[in-house]
Amino acid sequence: MNGRFLVTGGAGYVGSHLVADLCDQGAQVVVLDDFSTGHREALPEAARLITGSLGDAAALAAAFAEGPFDAVFHFAARSLVGESMRVPLDYFRANVGHGLALIDAAVAHGVRRFVLSSTASLFGEAAEIPITEASPLQPSSPYGESKLMLERALFWADRVHGLKSACLRYFNAAGADPAGRLGEDHRPETHLIPLAIDAALGLGPELTIFGTDHPTPDGTCIRDYIHVSDLARAHLAALARLEGGSVAYNLGTGHGHSVRAVIAAVERVSGRAVPARAGPRRPGDPPILVASPARIQAETSWRPRFPDLHEIVRTAHAWRRDHPKGYAPNNT
Ligand code: UFG
Repeated sequence: MNGRFLVTGGAGYVGSHLVADLCDQGAQVVVLDDFSTGHREALPEAARLITGSLGDAAALAAAFAEGPFDAVFHFAARSLVGESMRVPLDYFRANVGHGLALIDAAVAHGVRRFVLSSTASLFGEAAEIPITEASPLQPSSPYGESKLMLERALFWADRVHGLKSACLRYFNAAGADPAGRLGEDHRPETHLIPLAIDAALGLGPELTIFGTDHPTPDGTCIRDYIHVSDLARAHLAALARLEGGSVAYNLGTGHGHSVRAVIAAVERVSGRAVPARAGPRRPGDPPILVASPARIQAETSWRPRFPDLHEIVRTAHAWRRDHPKGYAPNNT
């Protein structure tokens, strides 16, 4: 693949899977990352690294000095709904303030295409399932609001400056590189699948199920888990589509799975029980979030290669089994 790309947050969970894809395809990749949540070990040799935050003007200038770029992929952000309810202004500073600085720099440097990691959190407690791009945007957390603000900034950056953008609303990113090079390593980990796997493997405490009295068939929350490699490929599909104008896509498989279904999948894949107990609901958790991926499927050739929960869990489990300390060396 021809081209030179800037990837912010390229050492993070989803970003690193895109960087691997781009490098595999022979693209030139510059990563800007401050390693606040990402891992140096997740970056391939072929990627050029600028270490620093988007909030650091010198780091941003150093990154754009590596251009000109055919596109910017923007992953660097804070992304925990619950945390954003505790420190909302930190979220606006990191996600909106720093995001605007990046968009500004992209425009100033003549970048024509921009791909934003957006989120299903834009939709808050969605009234209709599956959620389409026409569903009401009503974020119920500062995290969701911060991404919506950036989407709006990109809308106007297109209208005024002609910067074409793809806003990709991720549902629940999960799984790991099928080739086993990359995986999920958040510290602390808050996501269901890695926590359930750690509980099964004896690497972590028993799982707490956040609410068994939700209005769903088994009382636990339903989410649309999408394989991280499918997410990465969707960035390239969306990028190719930008010649026709800016787009926003909901990225999920269209299938929802309850917390209990995820636990059952982890038990099947690992061959071990997942120690779990029922706990209270987690504030802010909508009972059901399931995407309609109809628009991206109609407008591009993208289809999920791992639509199956079992396959998603299998890749996540394989990486964790082989990397019980995540990206830290096994002997530490
Ligand atoms: N859950 C538990 N126990 C846990 C952790 C999670 O029961 O220990 C439940 C949650 O209540 C939820 C489901 O598992 O119902 C998934 O929770 P995650 O924390 O894995 O993911 P979220 O749905 O909260 O959020 C994720 C991303 C957000 C993104 C959102 C979009 O972290 O950034 O998906 O759907 F916005």
